[in-house]
Amino acid sequence: MNIYAIILAAGKGTRMKSLDQSHSKVSHPILGMSLVQYVLRALKPIQPTETFAIVGFGGEVTTQLVQDSAKVVWQHEQKGTGHAVQQVASYLSRKEGTTIVLCGDTPLLTSQTLSSLLEEHIKNKHDLTVLTCIIDQPKGYGRIVRDKQGLVDRIVEQADATIEEQGIREVNTGVYVFNNKLLFEQLVHLSGNNKQGELYLTDVIKMFKNKGYHVGASILPDSREMLGINDRVQLSEATKIMKLRINRDLMLSGVTIEDPDNTYIGPEVTIGQDSVIRPGTRILGKTSLGKANIVGPETSIENTIIGDNNTIVKSQIVDCHIGNENQIGPFTHLRGHCEIGNKTRVGNFVEMKNGHLSDGVKSAHLTYIGDCTIGENTNIGCGTITANYDGKHKYHTEIGKNVFVGSGSTLIAPITLADNSFVAAGSTLTTDVGEDDLAIARARQENKVGYAKVLKAKINSK
Ligand code: UD1
Ligand code: CA
Repeated sequence: MNIYAIILAAGKGTRMKSLDQSHSKVSHPILGMSLVQYVLRALKPIQPTETFAIVGFGGEVTTQLVQDSAKVVWQHEQKGTGHAVQQVASYLSRKEGTTIVLCGDTPLLTSQTLSSLLEEHIKNKHDLTVLTCIIDQPKGYGRIVRDKQGLVDRIVEQADATIEEQGIREVNTGVYVFNNKLLFEQLVHLSGNNKQGELYLTDVIKMFKNKGYHVGASILPDSREMLGINDRVQLSEATKIMKLRINRDLMLSGVTIEDPDNTYIGPEVTIGQDSVIRPGTRILGKTSLGKANIVGPETSIENTIIGDNNTIVKSQIVDCHIGNENQIGPFTHLRGHCEIGNKTRVGNFVEMKNGHLSDGVKSAHLTYIGDCTIGENTNIGCGTITANYDGKHKYHTEIGKNVFVGSGSTLIAPITLADNSFVAAGSTLTTDVGEDDLAIARARQENKVGYAKVLKAKINSK
C-alpha cells in the first residue's frame, strides 16, 4: 500500500517575532536541527512512498531544509490548513493510498507514535484517524467533539467554539491519517465559513462523518509529544524535553552524562560506550564520538568525527577529524578542517585551522597553526605562529617528522621545515630548513657587563 506524507510548513509564525521575512518558523533549530527536520526524521521509519512539504512564508529557507527528503510544494497565500493540503491535489488526488498529514512545528512527535497511529488506522479500517490528546489547558487547540456514542463527530477550532465546547479537554494534535482519495474528494468542498475565514483541514472530519465514512481517533498518551512551537518560550520548552530525551537514550546506551540538564547533544550525534560527557558541553551536528572519550566540561563540538580514548577539555572544535588517544585542551580552538592523528597533545590557547597533525605531535601552548601539515612526533614550542596570510592570500607551511620548533618562533609561509630539523627559539623564518639542519633567525645577544647597575641609577635619578 502506498503511504503519502504531507507536512504543513507554510504558516507565518507571527509569534516567533522574527526580524526578517525569510526566517520561517519551522527553520528555527532545536539542538542544531530545524523543527521541520525533526518531523521529517520522525517520518523516516514509516518510509512514505512520497513526502510533500508545503512551504510558503519564508519558503526559500524551508526549501533548503526539506528538499533532500521531501517534494516541495508552494502555498503562496496562507489561507488555512485545508488550503495548504489542497496544494498537493495535482500530485495526489487520483492516487490510491493512505495519507498522513502533520505539521512542521511539532518536533517532539516520535516515529513510534506515527507508526502506531498508522497501524490503528489500517487495523480498524478507518477512512480517517485523528491523533488526539487529553490535556489540562486545551486553550488554542481544536477541540474534539464526540457524539452520544462517544465517536468523533467533528473538530471545532478555538475561535469558533461555544463556551461549552471550550470546556472539552480532548484536542486535535494536528496529525491525521486519511484514505487519500476520499481526502481529496472532500477537500474541494471546504469553505471559509468560520471566524478566521480560513479553509480548515479540520472541517474534513465532519464531511467524512456526513458521508458515512469511518472516522476514528487515537489518543496520544504523552501530551509533551504534541507540543507545537508557536513562540520562543515553547521553543525553549521543546528544547528542554528533546535534550533530556537524547541524553537519556545516550545514558541508557552506556554513555556517562554527568549533568544531563546542562549538556546539549544534537539528535544526529553518536557517542560510543564509556565516554564521559562533563557539564556545560554542546555536541551538535553530524558529530560522531567513539568509545571511552572524556569530553568537557564546557566543550563545544560540531560536525566532527572523533575516535576513541581522547580527552577533550574546555575546547571548541568545528568540522574536524580526530583520531585516538589525543589530549586536547583546555582552551584549544580547532576552527575547521583540522586532521588530528593519534596520541597528539594540543594544549592551552592553541588555535588551529586547516592543520594536519600526524601521530605524536605536541603543540602544548599558545600557538596558531593555520594551513599547515606537521609530521610524526614533531614538537611545536610555546608561542609558535604560522604566518599564513599576507592580507590577501593564504600560504602553506610544511613541517616534517621529528622537528623541534623552539618557543616563540614565527614561520612565514610558504615554508618547509624538513624532517629532523631544529628551529632555535625566537626565530622568524622566511627560508626553508633542510633535513637535520638547525635554523637560527634572530639578533645575536650582547651582554654589557655591570651595565644594569648604571642603567638603574640613571633611571632613579630622573
Ligand atoms: C491547528 C488545527 C487545530 C489543532 C492545532 C494543533 C486547523 C484549522 N487547526 O491549529 O485543530 O489543534 O493545529 O497544533 O487545522 N499552515 C500552512 N498553511 C496555512 C496555515 C497553516 O502550511 O495556510 C501550517 C503551519 O505552518 C503549521 C500548521 O499548518 O505548521 C498548523 O497551522 P497553525 O496556524 O499553527 O494552526 P493552529 O491554529 O495551531
Ligand atoms: Ca500551531
